[in-house]
Amino acid sequence: MEHRNAELTEKILSLKEKKRAVILAHNYQLGEVQDIADFVGDSLELSQNAARTDAEVIVFCGVHFMAETASILCLDKTVLLPDINAGCPMADMVTAERLRQWKRELPGATVVCYVNSSAEVKAESDVCCTSANAVKVIESLDSKQILFVPDQYLGHYISTKTDKKIILWPGFCPTHMRIQPEYLTRLRQEYPQAKVVVHPECKAEVIALADEVLSTSGMCRYARREDVSTMIVGTEIGIIHRLRKENPNKKFIPVSEQAVCPRMKLITLDSVLWSLQEMTPEVRVPEEIRSRAKAAVDKMLEIGRS
Ligand code: 13P
Ligand code: SF4
Repeated sequence: MEHRNAELTEKILSLKEKKRAVILAHNYQLGEVQDIADFVGDSLELSQNAARTDAEVIVFCGVHFMAETASILCLDKTVLLPDINAGCPMADMVTAERLRQWKRELPGATVVCYVNSSAEVKAESDVCCTSANAVKVIESLDSKQILFVPDQYLGHYISTKTDKKIILWPGFCPTHMRIQPEYLTRLRQEYPQAKVVVHPECKAEVIALADEVLSTSGMCRYARREDVSTMIVGTEIGIIHRLRKENPNKKFIPVSEQAVCPRMKLITLDSVLWSLQEMTPEVRVPEEIRSRAKAAVDKMLEIGRS
């Protein structure tokens, strides 16, 4: 297997040079995919990276909404998603049509969409956010009433950090739902010295037991702190690869080995190589939707810079 991966890696890296491509990978990708990437990060960092790369081709190792966001930001680049079935089930829990109807029922509210949403939903939203900047984005808005789509748990977490009224759409991440508070309570008893870090997509009962609530790259930064030697990690288990690689002398314990995002795992070394060879599947957003979705993404990136 290792020999095969080494062969695939060599082919990918040489083809990448030839095609003037950059490989971006999310923190939940398979270890071997993270290892061939030019950059590994959370949703916010990946979109910032896509926006500033001078490569002609972006091979996006993540899920569909992430590749779409890259395409929204980079009109002149070819964005490849090595497996077109790699969609985010949470993003599919709201459609533009249902959001338009919700807006009609609650006129005057500001619509904030989690980046885990389709380009059509972003086009119907005032501003976008990620798990890394959600509270900052909401706090920067003048409006007191916010419609938040699609993640009810991230939305609820934000509502505990702001005075604004946040009306929640009932979406959720099936992977983070597998992280149960009783698992965390047991691990806390077993490792009393450990720091507990969870993702804001977790249930409120899980968040209540955590020391920190962070985006995936926020977790990677936190792990480097000197006072962290053992960390209990409440998110998708792909991140454990990066945490162990960057901190070989520290201990990382996933709250649940079952917290696997099957769509993230569709991207493999084989599919990355095939995608670069065939220059497909390409993700491209129709211009009328792209320009409106870009306004919501740009607004988020501007808030980040302020
Ligand atoms: P991050 O932006 O924190 O990497 O989260 C993305 C995601 O899909 C979490 O499930
Ligand atoms: Fe979507 Fe959850 Fe997978 Fe993240 S972990 S991509 S939110 S299904």
